[in-house]
Amino acid sequence: MNKQGQILLVVLLLLSTGFLISNQSPTPKLLVIPTNFPAPTYDISKNPLTEEGFALGRKLFYDPLLSKDGSISCASCHQQDAAFIQADHDLSHGVDDRLGKRNALPIFNAIFRKSFFWDGGVPKLDFVPINPIENELEMDEKMDNVVHKLNASAKYRSLFKNAFSVDTISSKEVLHAFSQFMYAMISANSKYDRYVRKENTLLDKEELAGLSLFKGKCSSCHSTDLFTDDSFRNNGLDNDQAKDKGREEITLNVSDRAKFKVPSLRNVALTAPYMHDGRFNSLEEVMDHYDSGVKNSSSLDAQLKSGTRLGIPLSAVEKKQLILFLNTLTDSTLINNKNFSNQKH
Ligand code: HEC
Ligand code: HEC
Repeated sequence: MNKQGQILLVVLLLLSTGFLISNQSPTPKLLVIPTNFPAPTYDISKNPLTEEGFALGRKLFYDPLLSKDGSISCASCHQQDAAFIQADHDLSHGVDDRLGKRNALPIFNAIFRKSFFWDGGVPKLDFVPINPIENELEMDEKMDNVVHKLNASAKYRSLFKNAFSVDTISSKEVLHAFSQFMYAMISANSKYDRYVRKENTLLDKEELAGLSLFKGKCSSCHSTDLFTDDSFRNNGLDNDQAKDKGREEITLNVSDRAKFKVPSLRNVALTAPYMHDGRFNSLEEVMDHYDSGVKNSSSLDAQLKSGTRLGIPLSAVEKKQLILFLNTLTDSTLINNKNFSNQKH
């Protein structure tokens, strides 16, 4: 290379490092989709995962600044040690300890959900945070005011600049940061996962018996390795006088009365109490419900009526085996993963 060429090269190098410094782009973060799971529903290309975006989403998730009186964060109701639901509460508690009408749903594996909330009222993950933020029984704040509070913080302005290259924060970046934290939270490392992926793990005889019972009696609704078909159904909790109209509140169709989202059963051993109103405290009670507690109503799922017998007949041994199988769906790496924990700094 001649002298001119060398000078040109140096100038180009200087220009490009200068460019990198003044226009630093966020660091891409790797996301691994488990081989035994269905395809994601969230379009990652519209909100690519980055280290900075994810960390910012996590900070927002743990920050009570987002509630009206600074007392409640998302994590108040979605606690990591309870697989991101609110432990010991049948109905969730918000600002001033106001009581919501439903039991919290977990956050993990949101990247695969077709809709959100027990009634499917929110179609996209990006819109989810608006709901708890503005719900007066939860954080009782306004989205505009959240954006205002964040813009007033030099720390947040710099974090948003690093993650999304913006000088002024808008609700779009707030929602994208939340989504990155939530969609990256994949839970797929239970004993059952390692067994189906043949990662040197076996289920014992009782667990295998439970799995086979589950396939025969439960997997029509709790289907795929997500353990839900994401449909809305009435599993016989109440008769026609149900207090909560469920899916009907969204579709306004009477035939959807008291239908609720089939919940994923992943980490179910950690997410008591159960059902949309948290009415059952243990998996034993859930088994008793399917066996002998199913109530008839106009929208009761056809699979839970055969002739005059309602529900799914289960012997005491079968109930025990089903529970042993459900216990294999616990992913302890999710509840111990520091990446999803509150990072105080
Ligand atoms: C006061 C308690 C409370 C707070 C605070 C709260 N949530 Fe929730 N969350 C719930 C309840 C209850 C549900 C189920 C609501 C329903 O289905 O009607 C839920 C549902 C969800 C779901 C839906 C999961 C699914 O599979 O459908 C997501 C995601 C979620 N919350 C994220 C958040 C985020 C993000 C925040 C903070 C901005 C937050 N939540 C704050 C109680 C809370
Ligand atoms: C007809 C569809 C259907 C069948 C079959 C079915 N379920 Fe469910 N399951 C649901 C629905 C819907 C809910 C949520 C109902 C609600 O909260 O209103 C649910 C909730 C649950 C819950 C509570 C989960 C939580 O996080 O609150 C457990 C546990 C459960 N089912 C286990 C089973 C087992 C075990 C079987 C087989 C014996 C089974 N289910 C069969 C539809 C079904």
